[in-house]
This record gives sequence, C-alpha cells and structure tokens, in this order.
Amino acid sequence: MQVLQGKIIFITGAASGIGAETARQLSVRGAIPIITGRNEKKLKDTAASLRGAYGCYKMDVRDQDEVSEVIGRAASDFGRIDVLLNNAGYGLFESFEEAPLSHFSEMMDTNYMGIVRCTKTILPIMRNQGGGHIVNVASMAGKLSTAKSSGYAATKHAVLGLTNALRIELKPLGIAVSAVNPGPIDTPFLLAADPEGTYANNVRGYMLKPDKVAEAIVRVIERRTPEVDLPWSAGIGIRLYGMAPRFADKVAGRFLNRK
Ligand code: NAI
Repeated sequence: MQVLQGKIIFITGAASGIGAETARQLSVRGAIPIITGRNEKKLKDTAASLRGAYGCYKMDVRDQDEVSEVIGRAASDFGRIDVLLNNAGYGLFESFEEAPLSHFSEMMDTNYMGIVRCTKTILPIMRNQGGGHIVNVASMAGKLSTAKSSGYAATKHAVLGLTNALRIELKPLGIAVSAVNPGPIDTPFLLAADPEGTYANNVRGYMLKPDKVAEAIVRVIERRTPEVDLPWSAGIGIRLYGMAPRFADKVAGRFLNRK
C-alpha cells in the first residue's frame, strides 16, 4: 500500500524485538522510521538493516528531559511526526509475594508512564499538523492476568485504559489511537521476563514470530485499526473468559498458570 510512503514514524524501544522488526518492514514500504532506544550499539544494528531514509536517536522513555529533547529534534529534522509507535517495555514474571515493591513501580514507569511521556510530548506536534496516529503496544496481559504477572499485567491494563480514553478524546483532533495486544512472542523480552525459560518452554508451541507481529502492526498503521489481538483466537478466548470468569478459572486455571 502506498499510504506509508514518506510517513514519519517515531518508534520507542526499537533496538530489538518487534520495534526493530517493525522499523525494518516500514522502511521496506517507503516509510521513514525514527528509531529510538537506550542501547546505541543495538540501535545502530537496527539502523544498518533499514532501507532508505531514517532517524536514529538514543532515548530512554523514563527520562522526560531526553524525551522532550529527542522528540523536538526529530520533529525539526523531519518536519512532522505522522505516527508514534509506543513499543518500549519489559516484563518480570515473578510471584506477587516475592517481587519487591520497586519492581512494580519501575515497570509502571517504563511501560505506562513511558507512553504517557511520549504521547504528551508528541501531542502538540500532531495537533499543529492537523492529525496523526498513536499506536500503543499493550499485550494480552492487558486483558487477561495470569499467575506471576501481577506487576506486568497491571502495567498493560493501564496502557489499555489510557489507550481507550485517548481514542475518544483525540478523535476530534484527527488523531487515531490504536492498541496492539500480542500473546507471547519469540523476542529478547522473554529472556528478561523469565530467565529460567519455564514460561517460554511451556508456550513454545504457540509463540508468535516477531515478523508476524510486525506485519500486524504495519497493517494497524496502514488502516488505523483501533485494536488488534494476536492471535485473534486468543482475543476470542479472552472475551469468553470475561463473560464467565468463575467457569473459565475452573476449566482454564492450569493453562493460565504456566510461568
Ligand atoms: P524486546 O525486549 O526485544 O523489546 C523491547 C525494547 O524496549 C528493548 O529494546 C528494550 O531495551 C526497550 N526498552 C525497555 N525499557 C526502555 C526504556 N526505559 N526506554 C527505552 N526503551 C526501553 O521485546 P519485545 O517483545 O519486542 O517487546 C516490545 C513490546 O511488546 C513491549 O512493550 C512488550 O511489553 C510487548 N509485548 C511483548 C510480548 C512478548 O512475549 N515478547 C508479548 C506481548 C507484548
């Protein structure tokens, strides 16, 4: 589709995983990805795999000064920002009792407040240019919480709460807001979330490939789709769960306790 040609797409957490893969796929379709992340060496590796024009800046979504400085610089270097892909995030799979308080607030600071910071900073730019699109990478964990993900799932529930409110609030400004909710994906995320590999081993059979998730994100950007669950079958399962949680806990409890 030609809709992506020349579009300026600002991506957080693009040093690895689906951020990096989405940047690659967007560049192949003629968009101009602006990749940002904390690790400059890995960002350079991502940059080397891009086609055509791109931007590359070191940016930690926890640092408001850096977020303001980088978004300001990118807007002045490229003239506009058409899409913000809020992708940076991480998870720690651990029991509620054992997890220190700091893990809860630190995950929230990156996964949720990082999106708040980037969105608030880019909003005046999109308002002035008469529109834009904000895409938030949430998770299935934002819709259905499972054992050993109390901290992480709460951050993604917060992301979806924010996304749904913004979708309504920003519509009059011509700004679309989308959520992408993947199930487990084969990326470095799982190494940090679950260093022993228990969860990865238990879900290996239905783990998503990063290129497929990136393809879905590209489609969301092209079509301005409000929300996508990946895989779609898991999205249906979650809806059924919501209709009868007590029954679902009985039949699916073991399945939801695999970390
Ligand atoms: P990943 O670990 O390869 O990518 C996440 C990126 O975010 C990394 O490059 C990381 O350095 C960056 N990041 C973390 N904290 C940051 C900060 N403070 N500032 C800037 N960048 C930061 O993993 P993946 O899977 O590509 O993750 C992307 C998004 O997808 C995350 O938001 C994650 O929560 C979400 N997700 C991942 C799933 C999975 O199973 N891999 C499942 C569902 C959602």
